[in-house]
Amino acid sequence: MIIVGNWKMFRGPDPHALAGLDAIVCPPFTRLRDCVDAGLTTYAQNVHWDKEGTYTGEISPPMLLELGVTGSLVGHSERRQYFGESDETVGLRTRGALEAGLHVVACVGETIEERRGGKTDAVLRRQLSVLEPHPNLVLAYEPVWAIGTGHTATPEIAQEAHAFIKSLLDAPVLYGGSVKPENAEALLSRPDVDGALVGGASLDVDSFTAICQTAARIRS
Ligand code: PGA
Repeated sequence: MIIVGNWKMFRGPDPHALAGLDAIVCPPFTRLRDCVDAGLTTYAQNVHWDKEGTYTGEISPPMLLELGVTGSLVGHSERRQYFGESDETVGLRTRGALEAGLHVVACVGETIEERRGGKTDAVLRRQLSVLEPHPNLVLAYEPVWAIGTGHTATPEIAQEAHAFIKSLLDAPVLYGGSVKPENAEALLSRPDVDGALVGGASLDVDSFTAICQTAARIRS
């Protein structure tokens, strides 16, 4: 069971308050070092595919590794929605990061219009077409309509999507989208839900700790 906290563009909690937690944190770039120094497994929220170059605003795999960062999110829906991230660049980022020795959590998921239009499977198939199995690759199913909205996918919807994703690509699949202490158990108990990618609730030490404890209980 893998629990990942995505702090997005928030400063986030004191990393020392999370010491000893079996989880991965994705703080903003300015807090990466604090999290590494506190002994947390620390991933970035995005990574470029090249070692260096004329790419203003980007960060490379070796730069992250040098800091003690061991992985990165790639293709989060907020990157796709607001910053023009495409399937092609998600594929490039994922491949570059994995080849450099980073772990990757690659995110996929449909919008509400796509779900209503019966396009969920086609969208997931397209998003996954740029990815290949790799021992350090984990996927996150994050239906866009459930992110930051309080509308969690039901455990049944999550299970169905996770099973479909795994039929296309063999990797652990995390669920993301309004995961909270109150719904974590039902979601994490589904057979193909291998963990959670937690946004809002990861900013609160008590909530995040409760989700990690639920995950540990289910695993044991
Ligand atoms: P949320 O965010 O838990 O606040 O919905 C999840 C995510 O975007 O990774």
